[in-house]
Amino acid sequence: MNALQFIETSIEDGIGFIFLNRPKQLNALNRKMISEIVSTMEAFDIDSQVKVILLTGNGKAFSAGADIDEMVNDSPITLELTNQFADWDRINLIRKPIIGAVKSFVFGGGFELALACDFLVAASDTQFSFPEVTLGVMPGAGGTQRLTKLVGKTKALEWILTAERIHVKSALHYGFINKIVAPELLMEEAVDFAQKIAKQPPLAVRLIKESVNKAVDHSLYEGMQFERKNFYLLFASGDQKEGMSAFVEKRKPKFTGG
Ligand code: CAA
Repeated sequence: MNALQFIETSIEDGIGFIFLNRPKQLNALNRKMISEIVSTMEAFDIDSQVKVILLTGNGKAFSAGADIDEMVNDSPITLELTNQFADWDRINLIRKPIIGAVKSFVFGGGFELALACDFLVAASDTQFSFPEVTLGVMPGAGGTQRLTKLVGKTKALEWILTAERIHVKSALHYGFINKIVAPELLMEEAVDFAQKIAKQPPLAVRLIKESVNKAVDHSLYEGMQFERKNFYLLFASGDQKEGMSAFVEKRKPKFTGG
């Protein structure tokens, strides 16, 4: 991997950390930064030391959106040739759970990046918004699709058309965040959350994420057929033998990831 310019990364206790690192620009996302985020997620995805990925921002905000300075002179042709959203598409292929720890501004592309996570732990000062309409454009990295699938058409259309700032309580009420925490406890709570998942058997975690994601885009029947195959597959794993034997033998399981 080339030297990272716009993010910082580390691995600790089964958690792969990604810190957006343009704090002076409120972590506005330029194209290189997205490419670094996605390449790091892919590297973590095949690193057996990492069980869960945790994404957050350095400085005050999670992210104030895509870098407007970079886009101001774009045309449909430069956008087509740059094909920047191909990087965003690769986030959908990450097999390990991704937790976003968000705070302050979560705007535009920053909101889309947050919605691409599997879980969101939000500091109580977080504000979510899609301001794109006020710039004469619209969300382009999945915002209209992901938010609508999560909260339904009524609120998604209202929020995207008004650019209203969404309060964390509303975010929790409509079910697109998992938890609200005090700002000073954000990382502690997010790590706690990550560790609950990191200690589960990795193959089961992987196939559960894959199966739940199927429910979003497929019919109930198709989703259930898919779930069943994954359920069967887990019976080939050592962790299934260990987990069930431990229950029968009344002891704690020791999962190895195999
Ligand atoms: N792109 C580029 N630079 C940005 C930025 C962005 N999205 N958001 C903030 N910055 C920069 C500011 O230009 C400023 O830089 P300078 O100090 O060099 O002037 C610095 O970050 C700090 O920002 P502010 O001084 O504006 O901070 P504030 O606290 O007064 O306001 C804010 C914060 C309300 C978030 C405001 O910065 C803002 O409105 N930012 C733009 C938000 C936005 O429109 N996001 C959507 C982008 S489009 C998109 O994301 C498309 C997509 O779907 C992919």
